[in-house]
Amino acid sequence: MPAHRIHFGILGTASIARALIGERFHHVDLAAVASRDINKANAFADEANIPLRYQSYDALIADPTIEAVYIPLPQHLHYEYAIKSAKAHKHVLVEKPAALNTSEIERISEACKSNDVLFMEGFMYRFKRVHNRAKEIVQEGTIGKLRFVNFAWSHNIGNRGHDGFRLEKHLGGGCLLDLGVYGADWIRFITDAEPRLFQSYLHRREEDGLDLFAHATYKAGDVLATITCGYTADANYYFLSGEKGSIYSPVALSGRKIPNVLQIHLLGSDTKYSEEFPAENAYKLELEYFAQCIKNKQYPFLDAENARRNLLLIEELAENAIII
Ligand SMILES: NC(=O)c1ccc[n+]([C@@H]2O[C@H](COP(=O)([O-])OP(=O)(O)OC[C@H]3O[C@@H](n4cnc5c(N)ncnc54)[C@H](OP(=O)(O)O)[C@@H]3O)[C@@H](O)[C@H]2O)c1
Repeated sequence: MPAHRIHFGILGTASIARALIGERFHHVDLAAVASRDINKANAFADEANIPLRYQSYDALIADPTIEAVYIPLPQHLHYEYAIKSAKAHKHVLVEKPAALNTSEIERISEACKSNDVLFMEGFMYRFKRVHNRAKEIVQEGTIGKLRFVNFAWSHNIGNRGHDGFRLEKHLGGGCLLDLGVYGADWIRFITDAEPRLFQSYLHRREEDGLDLFAHATYKAGDVLATITCGYTADANYYFLSGEKGSIYSPVALSGRKIPNVLQIHLLGSDTKYSEEFPAENAYKLELEYFAQCIKNKQYPFLDAENARRNLLLIEELAENAIII
């Protein structure tokens, strides 16, 4: 008998969900997709070979054959549909940011616990070999004791006025929840420490206060850490600097299925070399990992508490920021 695959339903026909089209999965059956527009659901389902299509997210959630829900909706809908899915006894995989704030994620966590379903936030980069290898190189001592880490992610979309939900404040837009949360998660991942905020800077759009770029400095254990995120430049990289050298990731946390590289520079011996990594579909790996957790009844490491800590860092950044 073939091994059971977890039946997933996808809420919405988001661009990011298209990364799953054409992949062959272990443990996962893409069983249903829902859209506000049935034509979009049908087109997506035909392309992705998904049998069930629904004209509303609620109808998909009501389907008793669906065991887990993937929620790549705009940020302001994560809370509502995570709660509805948990109450319908579906396991919940929600895109980052898991919620708009710590209070929402706490309530999502409670709903998942009381309905005995698993919760995971979709930080796809955690499934890419390149970033786990960067951490491993640090742990092996190659660049000596880690001292500074710098992270930047920005898309140059701020001048467009509209760019889907990202530039709409009422849809949970803004660079902090879109890109800043990656920085928060990445510092905690790479340093294995809970960062303390030193100083933060924030620039908001005049008309409506949407956050357009931000910078923050933290102390995470012994490490000085900075994150920069925004909608006014095109950047996606990180630096890890230790007592003996540095690691530079020029492609950083991009979700695209492209090869990746780490550039290592050991200053004392002036040795430079690179480690290369083949393209991986991190969204596929993330879904497969969550399905395995469901099958093994095991809590995912990207759980609600991890999401709460990231959101807390973002809240502290915004509340204490010098407005520039
Ligand atoms: N982990 C990553 O690497 C990564 C990368 C990009 C995005 N994300 C996250 O994934 C989520 C989706 O991002 P995306 O860029 O893929 O979004 P997108 O292409 O704009 O798709 C969002 C989907 O949500 C549905 N929707 C429901 N209400 C909506 C509204 N009022 N306005 C717009 N769309 C609405 C739409 O589906 P229907 O019309 O079919 O109902 C739409 O296709 C976000 O939470 C984002 O932060 C994560």
